[in-house]
Amino acid sequence: MATSSSDRVPLGPLSVTRQGFGCMGLSHTYGRADEAESLATLDRAVELGINFFDTADVYGLGHNEQLLAKAIKGRRDRLVIASKFGNRLDRETSGRALDGRPDYAREAVEASLRRLGVEQIDLYYLHRLDPQTPIEETVGELARLKDQGKIGAIGLSEVDASVLRRAHAVHPIAALQSEYSLWTREVEAEILPAARELGIGFVAYSPLGRGFLAGAEPVEATDRRRQHPRFQAEAVAANSKRRAVAEAVAGRLGVTVAQVSLAWVLSKGVVPIPGTRHIAHLEANWAAGDLDLDAGSVAELEAAFPVGSTVGARYPAGSPPVPGLQPA
Ligand SMILES: NC(=O)c1ccc[n+]([C@@H]2O[C@H](COP(=O)([O-])OP(=O)(O)OC[C@H]3O[C@@H](n4cnc5c(N)ncnc54)[C@H](OP(=O)(O)O)[C@@H]3O)[C@@H](O)[C@H]2O)c1
Repeated sequence: MATSSSDRVPLGPLSVTRQGFGCMGLSHTYGRADEAESLATLDRAVELGINFFDTADVYGLGHNEQLLAKAIKGRRDRLVIASKFGNRLDRETSGRALDGRPDYAREAVEASLRRLGVEQIDLYYLHRLDPQTPIEETVGELARLKDQGKIGAIGLSEVDASVLRRAHAVHPIAALQSEYSLWTREVEAEILPAARELGIGFVAYSPLGRGFLAGAEPVEATDRRRQHPRFQAEAVAANSKRRAVAEAVAGRLGVTVAQVSLAWVLSKGVVPIPGTRHIAHLEANWAAGDLDLDAGSVAELEAAFPVGSTVGARYPAGSPPVPGLQPA
């Protein structure tokens, strides 16, 4: 049966469009973002029918949630708003701390609710596992926040299958958000099957490989990707050979490489949340939801991007750990 972008899929108790919108890049992560253009892009996303918006307290240290608050004002009820906590960034030292303590969860949700200007966050994720706090304690507190109506559903990000199972035993987990794209397929071994078995929705972040799988590479000096191993010259040279196959598939189908990359993620029955600062890119990405890849194209893409073959780690050395996936 033909699929379309505006079809809805369940994430636990939530119903979201097959493709969401990732807001992180609107807070100067991958180059400068113009506020008026960002708001116009968010506006167009709602107009297109996207109902699922992803942010986190750490994106722009609150800026991202405040920006999203402006965009959703007056139409919040039609939308599913997801945010995250626990990946703390110290403004002074730029040092990271992973914090899943119950007290901190309570403090963080209140701050996010204020910044977002909402009464409830529909989906609230632990951004990274805190190795010092048992997942049962964090999820237990998130369940209490849900009972109190502060959050609508619980999510986890970048946890392995065993942590997912432990968490789900405490309270149903609505969604697992982890990196998934043609060049990051490691979740296919255990994590994605575990999510499917437990009935947990899977949200694919960086589905365009932070722009690489859309043919975009960093230009500005402050672009965070400049610190990423996969965006160093040698890695780009090696990975571009793989991307050339995706470009050839796109050429044959008369679409862009970004659309082929997204259509591949969508073909896995997961919910990608691509990010962009530009309306033209947003519209092109949304249209990928109407593209049903034939089995031959899928096989060709997967042969070009075997699991684990991408040159360069996902994150710079010293980034918070991401269990179950290739070490950063
Ligand atoms: N849970 C986590 O730990 C985690 C980690 C990372 C991200 N995320 C979430 O996932 C979302 C998406 O991930 P992401 O932003 O890292 O990566 P992404 O969506 O894979 O790629 C975004 C990059 O691709 C470019 N792009 C998008 N569409 C394009 C198109 N059609 N043509 C050319 N370039 C295009 C964007 O540039 P332009 O702005 O120029 O279009 C941007 O630089 C984030 O916004 C965030 O909400 C979560």
